[in-house]
Amino acid sequence: MRRRTPDDLAYAASLTLAENWHSETLEEFEGFYSHAPAGCLVAERDGRAVAIGVATPYGDAGFLGQIVVAPEVRGQGVGSLVVNALLSCLQSQGVRSVYLNATAAGAPLYERHGFRMIQPSLRYAGKVRGASHAHVRSMRAGDLDRVCSLDRLWWGQDRGFFLNRRWGLYPDLCQVLEQDGAIAGYAMARRRGEKLWIGPWCAATHVAAPEALLEALAQPGVEVQVHAGVLASSARAIRALGCLGLAQSATAPWRMVWGHDAALGQQMEILANGTSAKG
Ligand SMILES: CC(C)(COP(=O)(O)OP(=O)(O)OC[C@H]1O[C@@H](n2cnc3c(N)ncnc32)[C@H](O)[C@@H]1OP(=O)(O)O)[C@@H](O)C(=O)NCCC(=O)NCCS
Repeated sequence: MRRRTPDDLAYAASLTLAENWHSETLEEFEGFYSHAPAGCLVAERDGRAVAIGVATPYGDAGFLGQIVVAPEVRGQGVGSLVVNALLSCLQSQGVRSVYLNATAAGAPLYERHGFRMIQPSLRYAGKVRGASHAHVRSMRAGDLDRVCSLDRLWWGQDRGFFLNRRWGLYPDLCQVLEQDGAIAGYAMARRRGEKLWIGPWCAATHVAAPEALLEALAQPGVEVQVHAGVLASSARAIRALGCLGLAQSATAPWRMVWGHDAALGQQMEILANGTSAKG
């Protein structure tokens, strides 16, 4: 196992593309590398890269993600080495609880490493018709501090690096919802071709229709294809996505946890995940 270098990012993106993980692109890997290069690992055999994985620390919690072993070397213990190395990396930084979203192929591997299942992490997709709402507006640079502090309060750890990066890359896909003159919700998205990947999407519990934030991501009257990942416990998100007519995919990964705590990101204010590998 070794740390990734900038030269490995394209290889990492080629492995996720081969798995049809269309949201996990070079841009995402660049973000992980800028945030925590020590957590971006590569497994090599005979001097050739054969697997990747990313560990993302947030205080005493962390996420594992983007774990892919090249098909020709699967079933030989490489996945196990990657998980061990990522866990060690987080533990050495004081992380006590580690979360991930497991595919059906990955879940048995993680169980062998002490992870337990929490709940399904549902996948939704469909077309949303843009609409403007008087209480929803584009996010401004001056909103970021408030959005980051709300996110920290609601989500449970500091995701400020990724929220700032998302705003920097896609300012036109960041919306805030105001109630009584204060920010009470926000949605951010990324664009891949014509599609939007939603998240984070969060709103105070007194916001009755948080789906307004998603309608504001598209021009009024224009339909856009969106994808969102929400935890099965988020009844508010499921209701809101149902109102928009989004369909749930037949298969869903499992949110799993290793270690001390299991509550990160499960507050009622949290509607859609940022991404699988970073919460
Ligand atoms: C899931 C994945 C990462 C596992 O990687 P891997 O290198 O095959 O994992 P391991 O070899 O450590 O373990 C897998 C199996 O091989 C077995 N194995 C381990 N060492 C072995 C060896 N020396 N000889 C034979 N079999 C071995 C393990 O017992 C395990 O068996 P089981 O799961 O059928 O019970 C890999 O299949 C993959 O990249 N899948 C596609 C992407 C994906 O779904 N990633 C997970 C995202 S959460």
